Parts: sequence; C-alpha cells; structure tokens
Amino acid sequence: MEHASHPLILGIESSCDDTSAAVIRGPQVLSNVVANQALHAEVGGVVPEWASRAHLRKIQPVVQAALDKAGVTASDLDAIAYTLGPGLQGSLHVGTSFAKAMAWGLDIPSIPVHHMRAHILAHVLEPGLPPAYPFLCLTVSGGHTQLVKVRRPNDMEVLGQTLDDAAGEAFDKVAKLIGLPYPGGPVVDKLAAQGDPKAFSFSRPRMDGYNWSFSGLKTQVLNFLKQAQDKDANFVQDNQVDICASVQAAILDMLMAPLIQAVEDTGITEVAIAGGVSANSGLRARLAEANAEHGWTVHIPPMAYCTDNAAMIAAVGWLDALDALEGTLEASPSPRLPALTSLAQPKEG
Ligand code: KG4
Ligand code: ZN
Repeated sequence: MEHASHPLILGIESSCDDTSAAVIRGPQVLSNVVANQALHAEVGGVVPEWASRAHLRKIQPVVQAALDKAGVTASDLDAIAYTLGPGLQGSLHVGTSFAKAMAWGLDIPSIPVHHMRAHILAHVLEPGLPPAYPFLCLTVSGGHTQLVKVRRPNDMEVLGQTLDDAAGEAFDKVAKLIGLPYPGGPVVDKLAAQGDPKAFSFSRPRMDGYNWSFSGLKTQVLNFLKQAQDKDANFVQDNQVDICASVQAAILDMLMAPLIQAVEDTGITEVAIAGGVSANSGLRARLAEANAEHGWTVHIPPMAYCTDNAAMIAAVGWLDALDALEGTLEASPSPRLPALTSLAQPKEG
C-alpha cells in the first residue's frame, strides 16, 4: 500500500435502504454520499426486493459522486471496503459484487466489513476525538441493539443485546401505530420535543444482565391506544406529541439502565453511542447529562455518522489495512454475522 498509515479508502454501504459511498484518507472524510430510498415510505417499511433494485440503479452514480467530491479518481485508491453483513441479502449482494469487482479491476485489496462494527468504529473519524480504549458502546439501530465493550478495534465483546425488537424498531413500530410515516424514529424524536414525557406512563421492563426486550412496549402502547380510542376517537391526533414524548422517555430509560449498570460494574467511564437511534436528541441529551453529572467521557457521533453511511465502512477498512488485513474475492454476504471481529484475513507474504 502506497501511503502506509493513511491509505486512500473507498467505502461502500448497501446493507439496507441507503446506498452510500465515501472516500477517506486516514481519519479524514473526503466525501460521504448517501442516497436514501424514499420509495419504501409508501408501504411503511423496507421492501427487500425494491431495496436491492434501487441499489443496483444507484450504486455506480453514488460511487462516482463520492470519488468526484473527494477530488480523486479510482486509480488513486489503495483499497475498497464494503459491508458484507449483517443486512438484507439482496442489498448486500449489490455492494459486495460491485466492491469486489471494482477492487479486482483496479488490482487493489477489497476489505469486507461488519456493519455493526462499523457503526462503533465511526468514532475514529474526524472531527470527533476517538474514544480511549477500552470503551463501552451502546449501538442502537433499526436492526440491532447491543452493549459492546471495545478493548481494541479488533477486540470487542457484546455484553448484552436485545432479545427481540431493536430500539429503532420500537420507535418505528410505535410510530406506525400512531399513523406516522416510515422511518418513524426521527418523526417521534421531533414530536416528542414538544410533548410531556410524563403525560402517559408505560412500564420499563428490565431483562437479566445487560439485555433488553422492546416487543412488550409495542404491545403496551397498542393496548393503551385501543382503550383510549374507544373512549375518544380523536385521542391519537389530539395527543400525538404527548404520546411520542412518553414513549420516547420509556425507550430511553430502558436503553440507559443496562448502560449505567455496565459503567458501574466495569468502572469504564469512556462511553459512546452509535447507530441510527444515536441521532435521537433525547438520547444525546441523556448522554450529555451523564457526562456532566457522573463524570463519564461521552462520545456522540456527528449526525452524518449515526445513520447508515459509507464513511464508517471506510473507517473499518482503514483500521484493518493498518493491521495488514484484507479480504478475498470468495467473501460472500450474509444477513447474519454474529462476531464483531474483523472479517478480513492477514495479508499473504
Ligand atoms: O443504523 P440505521 O441507519 O440503520 C440500521 O442499520 O438499522 O438505523 C435506522 C434506525 C431506524 O429505526 C430509525 O427510525 C432510527 O434508526 N432513527 C431514529 C432517529 N433517527 C433514526 N430513532 C430515534 N430518533 C431519531 N432521531
Ligand atoms: Zn446501520
């Protein structure tokens, strides 16, 4: 590799419904282009077949836009990192095939990346200050909710996770119940800011260890709304902001409890959040409070690196390249990938 510690890396992300490409040099993000797929909003969820077809249409122009914005050409690249999983199989295939073919054509390494590891390692990108190791990371997205102890970029331990729905899914499902568009998380966040979090009370079940369960909350809200609407047909529309604020408060209390416990148990006060739900203003505020009140050193990602983006994929490519790890053309995408360790192997020779 030409630039030993600061190679030029193209990242490609296509695990769900965002097509993204980014170019980084070391921690510096030169471009990060994200094309959202608005077409799923009309059915209130991601349609996997539509997603993969949209990726196919968008991937080439998105990659080209990322190169152009960074002011580089494909022949300047040192490696291409791409999401191998977890995610939607068809969507992953598009990014994987494109990245491996492009790397093969350019005769540079391709580096397969674990999407959830990338959410965590987005913290090494500028303008943030990277967390000191070891740190705890609460990774909260539409498909995952995990509490991870990060000893090194390639040494992570999942301390706890959701036993059913992810936190983002809880936001999205409740949003659907009150008639809000998909994805519901950002809309609930916005409405919650105008409502009273104590207006309605929902229980906050605690699981063993550092685990979560969010499916009960959805059922609780469903039953609550049914009863309230039986008495008053306009209940939802008249109380939207208070419902959002009360549900969000419950989700945030549930999210924070195992995190607070883990800080107490491990003594690690270096704490990060990652994933789509880390864009939530309430969660960001809770972390800032913990920073001020309990002396945690918190790391909150810039908005652009919270939801799915290719800069975080490129970041993992950079860190793996530093460890002399790279992928092979045999790497095959997978919707489920449990380990958070590198998916690349030591370079031959
Ligand atoms: O990480 P991400 O972009 O995609 C996955 O890997 O799943 O996360 C998407 C999830 C969705 O459930 C979305 O509703 C949620 O993140 N989300 C939010 C906010 N922004 C995105 N949830 C709550 N508040 C937000 N501001
Ligand atoms: Zn994600």
